Amino acid sequence: MSDPQHVLAARVQAALGAAFGEPDADPVIRPSQFADFQANVALPLAKKLGRKPRDIATEIVAHLDVSDVCEKVEISGPGFVNLTLGPGWIAGQAQEMLGDARLSVEKTDAPQTAIVEYSSPNIAKEMHVGHLRTTIVGDAIARVLEFAGHHVIRDNHVGDWGTPYGMLIELLLDVGEGSEQAKLLETDPNAFYQAAREHFDSDPEFAQRSRERVVKLQAHDADTIRHWERLVDLSKIYLHKVYGRLGVTLTDDDIRGESFYDDMLGDIADELQAKGVAVISEGALCVFPPGFTGRDGDPLPVIIRKSDGGYNYSTSDLATIRYRVDKMNVDRMIYVVGSQQALHFQMVFAVARMAGWLPDGVSAEHAQIGSVLGPDGKIFRTRSGKSIKLTELLDEAVERAGAAFDEVPHDEPFDGETRRQVVEAVGIGAVKYADLSTARGSEYVFDFDRMISFRGNTGPYLQYATARIRSIFRKGGLSPEEATGPIVLGHEAERALALHLLGFGAAVHQTGETTEPHRLCAYLFDLASAYTTFYENCPVLKAPDEATKASRLALCALTLRTLGKGLALLGVATPERM
Ligand code: ARG
Repeated sequence: MSDPQHVLAARVQAALGAAFGEPDADPVIRPSQFADFQANVALPLAKKLGRKPRDIATEIVAHLDVSDVCEKVEISGPGFVNLTLGPGWIAGQAQEMLGDARLSVEKTDAPQTAIVEYSSPNIAKEMHVGHLRTTIVGDAIARVLEFAGHHVIRDNHVGDWGTPYGMLIELLLDVGEGSEQAKLLETDPNAFYQAAREHFDSDPEFAQRSRERVVKLQAHDADTIRHWERLVDLSKIYLHKVYGRLGVTLTDDDIRGESFYDDMLGDIADELQAKGVAVISEGALCVFPPGFTGRDGDPLPVIIRKSDGGYNYSTSDLATIRYRVDKMNVDRMIYVVGSQQALHFQMVFAVARMAGWLPDGVSAEHAQIGSVLGPDGKIFRTRSGKSIKLTELLDEAVERAGAAFDEVPHDEPFDGETRRQVVEAVGIGAVKYADLSTARGSEYVFDFDRMISFRGNTGPYLQYATARIRSIFRKGGLSPEEATGPIVLGHEAERALALHLLGFGAAVHQTGETTEPHRLCAYLFDLASAYTTFYENCPVLKAPDEATKASRLALCALTLRTLGKGLALLGVATPERM
C-alpha cells in the first residue's frame, strides 16, 4: 500500500479504535496547507462523544503510531491533526512503486462485473461529434475499471433497428451494393442517410416501399433481414475505421445493438402489464413511474407499446437491463450517453426497479456526456448546418498537429514516415485528451488551437513531457528500465514529485468509481507540473554526485512510466520521440 492517504487513514483508524473504541469512524484525511495531510475526525467525533475536539485530537495523537511514516505530527486549530510524511518513507514507497509492474496500483478488493456501454451510434444515421465523445470517454472508463481489477464488458449499443431502416434498405437496393453511393456507408454514413431521407420526402413511391420494408423487417422476413445485415455490415466497416484510427478498444464482438433485443420486446410489454406496472392509456401501453411529472404537473408516461403496436426506445432499454442482470450477471451498468437522454434513463431505471428487473444490489448509472459545441456556442456543425464528418475532423486535427509539431524544438530531425506517425498520435491524442480532460457532463467548445497546444492541460503537452524524459535517458546512454535508484529525497522538488507519484493508485481508483476521466487527466497534468519544477531545480545528468544522479534518474523513470500508464489508461498514445 503506497497511497499516503490510505496508509494514514489506516493508522488513524487504529488510534481511534484504541482510544475510543471507534475503529470504523472515517478519519477524514485531507490534503493540508500546513502539512502533507490532516486528519479532521476530531471534530465530528467530539460532537458524537460530547467532548472538546482538541481533547479528542490530543488522545488520537497519544495513540497514533506513525513513527515509521511521519516525521511530524501536530495539532492545529480547533483539533486538526497535521501529518507530515518523512522523506525516507516517501522514498521507500516510490522505490517500491518503481519495482512494481502495476506501479503499486492495487487491484480492488471488491471486484465487480461492470458493463460499460459506450459509443452506441445509430448505424447508417448520424455518427456526430457527440458520439466521438461518448466513444472516447467510454473507452477510458472501460480501461480504467479493467486496470482497477474489475471484470469489464464493453458494449456498443448501436441503433440498428426501427423505422429508418426501411428507407435505408430501399436506397441500398436501388443504388446497388457496389455503387458509389453505397460506398458512402463506409465513408460518410450520414450522407447516405440524408440521401435516403430526401428520396423518402420527395418520392411517394419510395416512401411507400420503405414503409412496407419496415413491416417486413419487423416480421423478420428472410430476404429483408439479409439486406439489413448487409447494410449493418457496411456500416460496421465505417465504425471500425473510426475506432481503429482513434485507438478505441471496441471490436465487432462488443456490438449488441437494439436489434439484439427485438424479440424480447413483446415479453417485456406482457410482463409489465401482467405485473400491473403498465396500463393502457389512450390506446398505448404505458408506465407512469412515481415522481415524474410534466410541466403541467401531469404524470409522465414511459410508452412501452404505441397504439399502433410498435415498441419504443424505452422498451428496448428495459429489455437490455433485464438481459444484462439475468443473463450477464452484471453488478454495475454504466451508460456513457449524452446528457440530453438523462430523463430517459432516469425513467427507464425507475420502471426497471418497479418491475423488479433491477435489484438493489445492481447499480445503473448514466455517465452523462455534455455536448460538443461549435465556436458559436451551438451544437457543433459545419457552416452549412450539416453535422461534422468525423474523419474530416480528425484529418484536420492531424494536419494542425503537424504545424504545431514543427514549431517545438526537437533533439534530432525526423524522417517523413516517423514524423507522420508522431503527428498522427499528437493530433488524435489532442482531440481525445480535450474530450477527457473536460468534466464529462460539461459542454465544451471544440477548439483546435486550444487542444493542440503544447502548453497547458493538453494531450500534446503530456505526450511531449514523456518524450522529453526519454530524451534524458538517450543523452545519458541508458534505458529507463536501467534506472533503479536507490531513490533518496533531498531537494524539496524531489520530495514533492515523489509524493505526487504515490497518489497514482488513488487517482486511478477514484476515476473508476466516479467514471470521471478528467480526474485522471488532472492528476497527470499536476504530475507533469511537479516534474517540470523538479527538472528546473534538480540537474539530472549533471547531478553533483553519482548517488544523486541515480536517484534522480529513477525519479525520471518512475514519472515516465506513470505518465505513460496514465495516458494509456486514457487511450492516449505516447510517441517515444517528439
Ligand atoms: N443510439 C443512441 C443515440 O445515438 C444512443 C444509445 C444509448 N444507449 C441506450 N441504451 N439507450 O442517441
